[in-house]
Amino acid sequence: MLPVGSIAPVTEQQQFDLVVIGGGPGGYAAALYGASAGLSVALVEKDKVGGTCLHRGCIPAKELLETAAVVRIAKSAGDFGIELELKSFNWARVAERKQQVIDTLFKGVSGLLKGRKVTVFAGTGSLGADHVVEVVGNDGEQATLKGTHVVLASGSSPRNIPGFEPDGSRILNSDSFFDMSAVPRSAVVIGGGAIGCEFASTLSDLGSQVTILEALPKILPGCDGDVTRVVLQSFKKRGIEVRTGTAVTGVQVADDHSRVVQLSEGDPVVCDVVVVSVGRVPVTEGLLREGTAVNITDRGHIEVDDTCRTAEPGVWAVGDAINTPQLAHVAFAEAIVAVKDMLGESPAGVDAAKVPWAIYCHPEVAFAGLSEDAAKEAGYQVVTSKHRFAGNSRAQVLGETEGLVKIIAEQRPDGTAGTLLGVHMVGPWVTEQLAAGYLAVNWEATVDEVAEFLQPHPSLTELFGESVLSMTGRSLHG
Ligand code: NAI
Repeated sequence: MLPVGSIAPVTEQQQFDLVVIGGGPGGYAAALYGASAGLSVALVEKDKVGGTCLHRGCIPAKELLETAAVVRIAKSAGDFGIELELKSFNWARVAERKQQVIDTLFKGVSGLLKGRKVTVFAGTGSLGADHVVEVVGNDGEQATLKGTHVVLASGSSPRNIPGFEPDGSRILNSDSFFDMSAVPRSAVVIGGGAIGCEFASTLSDLGSQVTILEALPKILPGCDGDVTRVVLQSFKKRGIEVRTGTAVTGVQVADDHSRVVQLSEGDPVVCDVVVVSVGRVPVTEGLLREGTAVNITDRGHIEVDDTCRTAEPGVWAVGDAINTPQLAHVAFAEAIVAVKDMLGESPAGVDAAKVPWAIYCHPEVAFAGLSEDAAKEAGYQVVTSKHRFAGNSRAQVLGETEGLVKIIAEQRPDGTAGTLLGVHMVGPWVTEQLAAGYLAVNWEATVDEVAEFLQPHPSLTELFGESVLSMTGRSLHG
């Protein structure tokens, strides 16, 4: 009998109601939710439970952004009449604090799994015929598990650009970024997506000279144009150079060991460090053995339907390994859908078009639903409302007035604003303010309905309330 709720030696065969491969947000959520529904659960993880998000992604990225925010706030202390002298960083302490946050959360998720009696196998799992998962233990031992149900949650890894392979010191990706031993004097960030903008914002606030190189005509693909403009203005003000429509063609080592990044157009950029953040690819190699009907697409994603069912009955796949938004909270939601489905509860799938997005660069970005351009492309007649934080009392108190809230609603035949299609925010703490907008969009609420809700005064969320209220044709401050 295996020890329950602890790291099990991978030597025995066992039958479980649910076997999960991968212990990131998708996998551990499936395990926890399944166990809370009374299933006996095995979780196979070759590294540490928590996955990319906890150990090499969301959590360390946000922790470093908070360190950057402390620097920014300290620099503006004089505005409040507080005289501070900012001397230097203790980088060892910066790294230590980041690791403490990770370790605390790691203990938390490990404790939850233990508390729910999930048996964790430390090894690499692969699925074969008849729901049999073979585990090659990290200690070389093997085990065979059989699940009445199986969830595949093998995650993703950073995409590389040929010629820019990460070396851990001068060319970094989103894994090695967190192991930097000091703040570089200058950095080129390749890719202006969520990760690129978060890294660029962090580095700039910590004192690096940053250049973002983005192949597309604009950074932050998927964001509303008005939101992107605010981010661009802020980046420019803080000295971050953004070059769009620029492809990188190669990188050379200069005599002083700095890197010279060659571009398809214009002068090369010289920098201490290159950070590659050009998306993530699913990790599915070696996941399947002979005999399973699960299908993997040419791009490496596990093929699933709306409720995360694979082509093999009784096998689901969730998280970054499937072709849905690569967000931890989407993986959580997909895991719940998969478990409900195996319990016969006929869940609705996750509507990818309406999930909440939160990008934690400074200024923060948060949105749910369609951008103005996407709504028009989808054939909607739209009414929009845009209000700036400069007019918000709490933002004035904070001294953080950069940013706006933009609401996109469907236009009714009489010209008035009807159902909310999208809520887009950029500015102070908007990642914490999106909830009301997310609910409104997903409830398909109308402007009239949402305008009835109160927002506390003074608060940043009043800007959302004011923006909606003004779409009724009447307003207070907006
Ligand atoms: P991304 O797909 O969001 O952005 C990558 C960017 O790199 C794109 O704008 C793309 O046009 C550009 N690019 C691709 N190849 C290039 C090249 N050779 N030269 C210059 N630019 C190039 O991917 P990102 O930012 O790496 O994030 C990966 C995933 O992680 C995303 O799907 C994102 O959803 C998720 N994520 C979300 C976060 C959040 O919501 N706060 C934070 C971090 C990651």
